[in-house]
Amino acid sequence: MALYAIGDLHLSLSGNKSMEVFGDAWKDYVARIENALGQLTEEDVLVLAGDTSWGMTLQEAEADFRFLDRFPGKKYLIKGNHDYWWATAAKFRRFCEEKELRSLELLHNNCILYGDYAVCGTRGWFLEEDQKPHNAKVLAREVMRLEASLQAAGEKPILCFLHYPPLYQGYRCPEILAMLEKYRVQGCYYGHLHGPTIRRRIEGQFGNTDFSLISADYLGFIPKKICEM
Ligand SMILES: [Fe+2]
Ligand SMILES: [Fe+2]
Repeated sequence: MALYAIGDLHLSLSGNKSMEVFGDAWKDYVARIENALGQLTEEDVLVLAGDTSWGMTLQEAEADFRFLDRFPGKKYLIKGNHDYWWATAAKFRRFCEEKELRSLELLHNNCILYGDYAVCGTRGWFLEEDQKPHNAKVLAREVMRLEASLQAAGEKPILCFLHYPPLYQGYRCPEILAMLEKYRVQGCYYGHLHGPTIRRRIEGQFGNTDFSLISADYLGFIPKKICEM
């Protein structure tokens, strides 16, 4: 009975965006995911830290959701920059009800409790976003979302899942890092870095927070065990 996490599954089961074109690291990735998720039990909880499906709509992502739903345990999905199918929590819940996908939920501006921990999450902020127009406004909104999630934790120790790394070599997002510090987040787990950029990850203790990269290709498609109940 444990909490696991992995980001960036980049599934495309009904589409044609297989990640196998990205070389050996992604060879047979769906089979490898299938093998790893097959080890989960009904009591386990899995956080999927963004870039879960290439589907552009909920309908296009359905095959990927159905694939994930087959494995035991609850799965909480965070928004990644490639999750174009993303919908409001109400719309996603309705879709899952209609399609009888019983184990999937969104983790977005909210928090779930796992044992003694509060599990928080949102998309986060990254260098690429700085280049887009109106970035200050969008960053402020993203930081607000993160704070809403962290506030919902109350007094519980916090494990925070973000799609974007709030720090990596050559980049810091001071606004996000300040939030993690303010709420004394114990562990921060992020995805988004693939292939050659994995080299630029920063892991370990900074301030009060322990940082880890959990992108699927970095983890060899085996979810990281975060804590046990
Ligand atoms: Fe990704
Ligand atoms: Fe990403």
